[in-house]
Amino acid sequence: MSTALRSARRVSGTITVPGDKSIAHRAALMAILAREPVTARNFPDSEDCRRSLAAAEAFGVEVRSEIKNEVVLYPPAKLTVEPGMVIDCGNSATTARLVAGIAAGTDCIVALSGDRSLSRRPMDRIIDPLTAMGAELVDSHGHLPLTVYGRTLLPFSYRLPLASAQVKSALLLAGLASRCGVTLQENTVTRDHTEIMIKALSGEISVRDVKPVVQEDPVDPRKKRRVRPETFKREIVLSPHAQVVGGEVDIPGDFSTAAYFLAAAALTGGEISVEGVGVNPTRTGFLEHLKAVGATVEIRDRTVRSGEARATVTVKGGSLKARKVASDEAVGMIDELPLVAILAAYSEGTTVVRDARELRVKESDRLNAIAHNLQAMGVSCGMLEDGLVIEGAAEPSGADFVSFGDHRIAMAFSIAALAAAGPSSLDDSTSVKVSCPQFYELLGQIVTK
Ligand code: S3P
Repeated sequence: MSTALRSARRVSGTITVPGDKSIAHRAALMAILAREPVTARNFPDSEDCRRSLAAAEAFGVEVRSEIKNEVVLYPPAKLTVEPGMVIDCGNSATTARLVAGIAAGTDCIVALSGDRSLSRRPMDRIIDPLTAMGAELVDSHGHLPLTVYGRTLLPFSYRLPLASAQVKSALLLAGLASRCGVTLQENTVTRDHTEIMIKALSGEISVRDVKPVVQEDPVDPRKKRRVRPETFKREIVLSPHAQVVGGEVDIPGDFSTAAYFLAAAALTGGEISVEGVGVNPTRTGFLEHLKAVGATVEIRDRTVRSGEARATVTVKGGSLKARKVASDEAVGMIDELPLVAILAAYSEGTTVVRDARELRVKESDRLNAIAHNLQAMGVSCGMLEDGLVIEGAAEPSGADFVSFGDHRIAMAFSIAALAAAGPSSLDDSTSVKVSCPQFYELLGQIVTK
């Protein structure tokens, strides 16, 4: 059923958003390997995160929830997955890839499946390194369904060939499960919730950033140059003795959910504050982008709980100007790039986004989905193999948006409609349940029509 969307007269208010999806997945799945119970507070009620809770249960974890938004996970004395059981990961690639990592390092046989969208997403990125570690994986041409035959894994050292926190996490969890020791090098730093949680729950893990050093120029000693002593940016070393004891994980609000409401303020000249939202610097690249295009951003009341920073973030809209997104910026706002494109439609000038090829293999081909919907608004949007070129328009019009079954496209274009000239509609809004079932309720709290 299609959803009617209208433009807003005013966008303002203070809200909180549900707990961070990425962190919640990790809390649910790390309990499989913990020695003692894991209590996760502010656990979101999203379909993706329920998939990870169900996956934990499939390994024998007992999941109890007696207080709203709090889950207590009791690890089993011995990990066992019932023979013949298939873990259905639904739409959640994080569940599929992280569970494959855990399974690879246990002595279980685990079969994984997913919905149509997830079954199209690449799994070779985890299959290849997990196989190199010594696990056996039987896949369907690099896709789900996948069966993982866990083994005792070998010590593993790997330079991640693509910037993916899911791949990094799958390998770290495999190392935790098998206690084999894993060293990973990242060329681009991706979200580090797994490393933070392993540390917070007592595992032995170290993270080293490779800082550039200043050297004299060999040709002209009066000049200085900055060089990287190693070619990668970050090295993560998980000790073979690392073991998750258990404990408490306090989940901050999901920055990627907050981003829709912050973008709404930027687009409409309004003002929105989101309290208690995660501001881990590997996630907040979108705030830097908002500042660079002309919005005002304020961060206050910063605290750290369970190793993760949280704060109140306020965004105030102003007149927006286009910019070229630098190649190393895309990773820090990978899930916010649909919003970057929508802001571009309302900005003065030409916005260019490159090095965003990964958007083609998300819940939908997001480059295609964004271009389709912006063009429907009368905005000139050129699609590159790895990005988009968007010409800001004086007055983008309302349109009949298509979600492509993708929660982030549905939410992003529901925000785009707020500033459009004329009414819009969305073909199907049900996908928002994947990450934020309360999305339209929250939107209702901040919008005056
Ligand atoms: C996620 C990592 C990112 C992100 C996804 C969640 C995670 O995916 O887009 O929504 O929780 O690790 P990739 O690792 O594929 O970049």
